[in-house]
Amino acid sequence: MYPKVIIHNSVSLDHAVRGFEVDLGMHYGALLAFEPEAVLVGSATAKSGIEMFMDINEPEAEADRHRPVVRPDDPSPTSVIVDSRGVLKDLLHFYRNMEHTKDVVVLVSETTPEDYIDYLREREYPFIRCGKGRVDLKAALRELRERFGIARVVSDSGPDLNDVLVREGIADTISLIVHPVIVGEGEKKLLGRVGNRVTLELQKAGPMGRGTVHLVYAVKK
Ligand SMILES: NC(=O)c1ccc[n+]([C@@H]2O[C@H](COP(=O)([O-])OP(=O)(O)OC[C@H]3O[C@@H](n4cnc5c(N)ncnc54)[C@H](OP(=O)(O)O)[C@@H]3O)[C@@H](O)[C@H]2O)c1
Repeated sequence: MYPKVIIHNSVSLDHAVRGFEVDLGMHYGALLAFEPEAVLVGSATAKSGIEMFMDINEPEAEADRHRPVVRPDDPSPTSVIVDSRGVLKDLLHFYRNMEHTKDVVVLVSETTPEDYIDYLREREYPFIRCGKGRVDLKAALRELRERFGIARVVSDSGPDLNDVLVREGIADTISLIVHPVIVGEGEKKLLGRVGNRVTLELQKAGPMGRGTVHLVYAVKK
């Protein structure tokens, strides 16, 4: 069994995810309205979020080295971070302390550096290790469901990870908050590297304020 996977992005009209002002309240309000049990985050997105919103000079405290006690009735999602190269070594405690995060699970692969695996073990971060070079996302999501009971995942990632989720037939739903701006050249565009044709079914379309439109599509499989 796989969890249901929803891609959620705030985009410009030409599908950039950066290069314009994302309305974060709107973005995360719509994300949480999907009631995710987990939020999937690529390592570049996680690193840029930490650098943008946290004081990265804040040292890790002793309490940060331990897995928090997770109350079964806590509605906050678990953060699931894809990080086969260990780029979040020494930074994961910022994620552990983030609002709306009850736990952090890391997805790694067979080639992930052993010092990162030691870092995860020493700090009690649960991890799923599958895939040779990059993380085998299908297998990792299946294990996420089996080991952690996670049935609904929203991917809050950029084009690199979200395009793979569509290309590999993993994404069930695509949710876009389209902002009234064309960013133009120079930014990576969402859904530019999906590869094959994908047919969608419109589930929702409506204005969200500040000139934005929220579009939700089911991916036909
Ligand atoms: N506007 C929005 O809605 C929105 C939302 C999220 C992020 N963003 C922005 O997007 C930017 C980052 O986007 P990004 O696309 O560069 O990075 P990203 O979303 O973090 O994607 C990179 C991640 O994808 C993984 N990946 C790539 N190809 C893969 C494959 N074939 N199999 C398995 N995993 C694969 C990488 O794995 P490895 O671990 O192997 O490297 C890495 O963890 C940031 O500036 C962020 O602020 C915008």
